[in-house]
Amino acid sequence: MDVLLAGATWLHLLATVVLIGQYVLLALIYYPLLRSRIKAAELGGVMEELGTRMRGWIGLSVLIFILTGIYLTLRDPAYLGVGNFGNAWSILMLIKHILVLAFIGVGIYTERALVGKVAESKGSPDSVTRLETAFAILAILGVAILLMTALAGAL
Ligand code: HEM
Repeated sequence: MDVLLAGATWLHLLATVVLIGQYVLLALIYYPLLRSRIKAAELGGVMEELGTRMRGWIGLSVLIFILTGIYLTLRDPAYLGVGNFGNAWSILMLIKHILVLAFIGVGIYTERALVGKVAESKGSPDSVTRLETAFAILAILGVAILLMTALAGAL
């Protein structure tokens, strides 16, 4: 058994559960529930605390993705080298990485700007809706990243 491959894939999948799982469930279940049950003026504070508690796990997940992702890329027979997108696998992985960068960018903007706006504005309807939209975009980007990965793995 290739223990290094098993270990890298396991960590890559664990990071997927934490990072993609967080935003998919936040968009589908947690945020709609919190929004319906918590006073608008308190929602921002709760979301800020959630963000603080998640920050370390998100950072660790991104680090794991980069380290195990580089290993999984370099050992994959379909990998043609940096900047060479001469087959379907490389093109799918390129699209995946563009989606990963978009995911990280939207994630940072959401945690740094939109959550703060909900707290500052004491839960103004506009800020609460913008946050909901951002969680939906993150969930869709996460699902798209997994789709690109599944397509690449099925080649
Ligand atoms: C949000 C970020 C990411 C998510 C959610 C993600 C998710 C996944 C998943 C679920 C797999 C399938 C593992 C398996 O069962 O074999 C996978 C495979 C892979 N990932 Fe990622 N990944 C992410 C970031 C990265 C990064 C940054 C890299 C490269 C630096 C990378 C490179 C790879 C490679 C090469 C494979 C194997 C693909 C294949 O089997 O053809 N991933 N990824």
